[in-house]
Amino acid sequence: MSMDTIAKKRSLGQFYTKNGFWLKKHVLAFIKSTGATIAFDPFAGGGDLLKVAENIGFKKIKGLDIDGSLNWKQNDSLLSIPRIKNSIIITNPPYLTNYSAKRKGIYENVKKYFDICRYDDLYQLAIEKCLANDFGVMIIPETFINSKLPKSRLASITIIEDLLFNDTENPICVICFDNKNKEYNQIDVYKNDELLGDLGYFEKMRKMPHKNIYMKFNAPTGQIALRAVDTTNPQKPIMFMKPEEINYDLSEIKYSSRLITVIEIKADKEIINKIIEHSNKLLFDFRKKTNDVLLSPFKGNKKNGERRRRLDYMTARAFLEEAFELACPIARLKLF
Ligand SMILES: C[S@@+](CC[C@H](N)C(=O)[O-])C[C@H]1O[C@@H](n2cnc3c(N)ncnc32)[C@H](O)[C@@H]1O
Repeated sequence: MSMDTIAKKRSLGQFYTKNGFWLKKHVLAFIKSTGATIAFDPFAGGGDLLKVAENIGFKKIKGLDIDGSLNWKQNDSLLSIPRIKNSIIITNPPYLTNYSAKRKGIYENVKKYFDICRYDDLYQLAIEKCLANDFGVMIIPETFINSKLPKSRLASITIIEDLLFNDTENPICVICFDNKNKEYNQIDVYKNDELLGDLGYFEKMRKMPHKNIYMKFNAPTGQIALRAVDTTNPQKPIMFMKPEEINYDLSEIKYSSRLITVIEIKADKEIINKIIEHSNKLLFDFRKKTNDVLLSPFKGNKKNGERRRRLDYMTARAFLEEAFELACPIARLKLF
């Protein structure tokens, strides 16, 4: 591929949905329940999603794309998407973060979109534009779940663990939306085919630190090490441990390290050991109760097919605070 072709593919997010794993039974049921007669993809690309739509019975399809070399009417759907009566949007819009556009040297191609919105990824602008229509099914990055974007028009969110694309390992989810505003406890959350609960439950389970205990992350001489990402080996998940157990040169830890860190806490060795033990128990329990929905997705899956996860440092801090209080309740009393 020439440089121009690569830059175009990246700027326009031209990664086509060659796999049908996203079309879970409940997603199909949602599409049917809308009564829509036209399948509409405003980011149509190779037309793969519209082909799926035809296969499930749509007699009419409509595609738009900004790329004039494709066989669709040209439209900049990040600026506006026409409202089409009796239609349902079925799409996989471009994904591109502000940061990654700059890093890849293609920011100039997409600057105009970031200038008109406060989002940090183009897929978020795409959602806003798609919501001008009544119904939709969108394949988007799974990071959406932990984003602050409004979710009240959604009927469901489905995490898809199978890898959908041949040319990227981006963790994704499928959102189904309709024209009604809902409470979060009316929005279903699925992982693959399994209904896990409602969004209200997950929002309540979120952990926030109180920042009432001294803790410094990325401190190379700290007493608690954290492997903040699952390895591909299911036996070696995210874990708090003693620095000597992590098998990594901790002097390499930088201010920006996000995957492995060392944390400095003011406590003696015995307490530190207890904090490590409690933090791991709290984390394990949290992962079980939330089915990992609230942990950031990480590229690539574990060997058993489950998605790898990353523990962000805000949530890690919340576990350490709780563990600290369990490990030395007296110290806590002194704080107040
Ligand atoms: C991730 S691909 C998905 C294509 C198709 N929906 C699929 O799933 O196979 C995104 C598509 O959006 C198109 N696109 C990118 N920016 C666009 C814009 N501003 N307006 C319309 N289409 C755009 C790209 O050309 C590309 O074909």
